[in-house]
Amino acid sequence: MIAAVDKNWGIGQDGKLLVRLPGDLKYFREKTLGGVLIMGRVTLESLPGKRPLPGRTTIVLSKSLAGGVRTDYGAEMEICDSVEACLRRLEKVPRGNIFVAGGESVYRQFLPYCADCLVTKIDGSFGADRFFEDLDANDAFELAWESPLQEENGIKYVFSQYDRKENK
Ligand SMILES: NC(=O)c1ccc[n+]([C@@H]2O[C@H](COP(=O)([O-])OP(=O)(O)OC[C@H]3O[C@@H](n4cnc5c(N)ncnc54)[C@H](OP(=O)(O)O)[C@@H]3O)[C@@H](O)[C@H]2O)c1
Repeated sequence: MIAAVDKNWGIGQDGKLLVRLPGDLKYFREKTLGGVLIMGRVTLESLPGKRPLPGRTTIVLSKSLAGGVRTDYGAEMEICDSVEACLRRLEKVPRGNIFVAGGESVYRQFLPYCADCLVTKIDGSFGADRFFEDLDANDAFELAWESPLQEENGIKYVFSQYDRKENK
């Protein structure tokens, strides 16, 4: 998984990200380029121009959009109408190439299948209405590493990775 969270593990408000951090967007691009992004329909519609991000295969979870491959969103994407359909689609994709990119409902449903989470931790509270699982309170995960402190536009943050503990 890859997510940016505030101090309360908040990830979004009113269908948008909490803050715009160019360094984090660059990190997200570098990590996910060439990979497969899994996202919910609301997150797709929050992207610039409501278009899938270039340079990545995009799979969108949705029951309201018709299934299969669509090209009418400005770039090709695939729609899966259930977690199970999505997991079947991913069977032959190497794990390291798969990035679950939100939002809350998709993070929540895919966490049981997830080995590690790249979490950008933002030092602030931004009144979120959507949240990521608090991995510090989740026994199945442990903090594997944290970057030096970053700062942009007066906002401090760190990149981090949480790994699933063995056998959990
Ligand atoms: N900080 C971050 O890293 C980050 C990353 C991504 C998103 N976000 C934020 O998260 C918020 C959006 O999260 P959200 O939970 O409201 O929406 P979401 O997870 O992006 O999308 C929800 C939609 O996904 C579809 N869906 C979910 N589970 C499904 C399933 N099992 N089968 C079929 N379709 C399924 C449904 O679409 P249909 O209604 O079409 O059926 C559902 O309405 C926004 O504020 C966004 O900016 C933050």
